[in-house]
Amino acid sequence: MRMYDLIKKKRSGESLTREEVQFMIREYVADNIPDYQMSAFLMAVYFQGMSEEETLAMTQEVAHSGEMVDLTAIQGVTVDKHSTGGVGDKTSLIIGPIVAACGVKVAKMSGRGLGHTGGTVDKLESIPGFQTTLTRESFFDVVNKVGFSIIGQSGNLAPADKKLYALRDVTATVDSIPLIAVSVMSKKLAAGNDCILLDVKTGSGAFMKTVEDAITLAEEMVAIGENAGRKTVALITDMDIPLGRNIGNSLEVIEAVDTLKGHGAADLTEVCVDLAANMLFLGGKGSLTECKAMVHEVIDSGAAFDRLVAMVEAQGGDSAVILDTDKFAKAPYVHEVKALKSGYITWMDTESCGIVSSMLGAGRETKDSEIDYAAGLILHKKVGDFVEKGDPLATMYASREALFSEAERRYEEAIRIEDDREEEKPLVYARVTRDGIERLA
Ligand code: URA
Repeated sequence: MRMYDLIKKKRSGESLTREEVQFMIREYVADNIPDYQMSAFLMAVYFQGMSEEETLAMTQEVAHSGEMVDLTAIQGVTVDKHSTGGVGDKTSLIIGPIVAACGVKVAKMSGRGLGHTGGTVDKLESIPGFQTTLTRESFFDVVNKVGFSIIGQSGNLAPADKKLYALRDVTATVDSIPLIAVSVMSKKLAAGNDCILLDVKTGSGAFMKTVEDAITLAEEMVAIGENAGRKTVALITDMDIPLGRNIGNSLEVIEAVDTLKGHGAADLTEVCVDLAANMLFLGGKGSLTECKAMVHEVIDSGAAFDRLVAMVEAQGGDSAVILDTDKFAKAPYVHEVKALKSGYITWMDTESCGIVSSMLGAGRETKDSEIDYAAGLILHKKVGDFVEKGDPLATMYASREALFSEAERRYEEAIRIEDDREEEKPLVYARVTRDGIERLA
């Protein structure tokens, strides 16, 4: 077999066989296929797409390029949740405890933030002492005892994806729907869960800018999951506006605690209730309506919050900051951004809001940058809200006063204030299952 022939085949719109895909991924990982040939193949996929069988074969081959995590030591059904990434997306910290309190296990491996999006592992590491690296035995132990655990993604999970992603990043082939589907689902298959809930974000802060593209990606990922024997459902949720009010690491943990205590922002609460109910549905806990009622019950009773406290303690974290979030280390400098005119907020550039948080110190510019756990911003007004000139729009937190002026300018550019109110947007657009698309808005 020759890579040259596979590139030519894909270039003319044909599908590769499973054997051809196997050859290509194995030889690429072994450095026997050079980056320039793989780049040409990826570009051919960008223009020609891939068939369902081809996408499944490539996902499985990429997944098997590293460790396939065996979760059989965990008692009961395990359900994973994956978000395609966003700004202010702290849903994993809220949903994990809820789902665990309802009796379904969550053994989650999460990533760090890069660019404008945050990462769950960084948020958890803002809790003093919290360990995101556990041995497999300790990880299973925490899941069995507490019902959920979140750790960092192992370096050996789908290594072929790491190599392919780095190449896509520099060859303008990241935004190919089949390649994103392969990348996300290879890591999900390798992580070993029985069921997978996908939170596919759409809007200005998401990879998928339109609902229709998000649905296409969701359909491809659901097909891969189901064809690989995992029960898979996707929700298409809004990322045209940051989720909730807090952006930044400890600020997002604080908002997660508030939400678990029943007084979180309405949009964040609604999305979390829908995501958690779908995870329970996948875990066989009943109809979606029954699952939603269970979610509300464990929030109202405090059972979900107790699971968060238990998980933090089990992973070496200081639960005092969860029991009283005022105990989190505070940023030494605070700055209020005020509205420059009166009117309704009609638009927010969500990606820019994430960049502003990074500029304040909450994110990484490069893989090795240090992050400031207390930095970030709290949004007081979002799309649909009326503001008077001089009203506080947001509060910014940083370790140096000098960081505020540029961040403030960028934030002001990221917000549009106009005379007429915009129509409210839905939070959940659609639910995609193996049976089809259910439009919810
Ligand atoms: N997230 C991934 O893991 N891979 C992609 O290709 C895009 C988003």
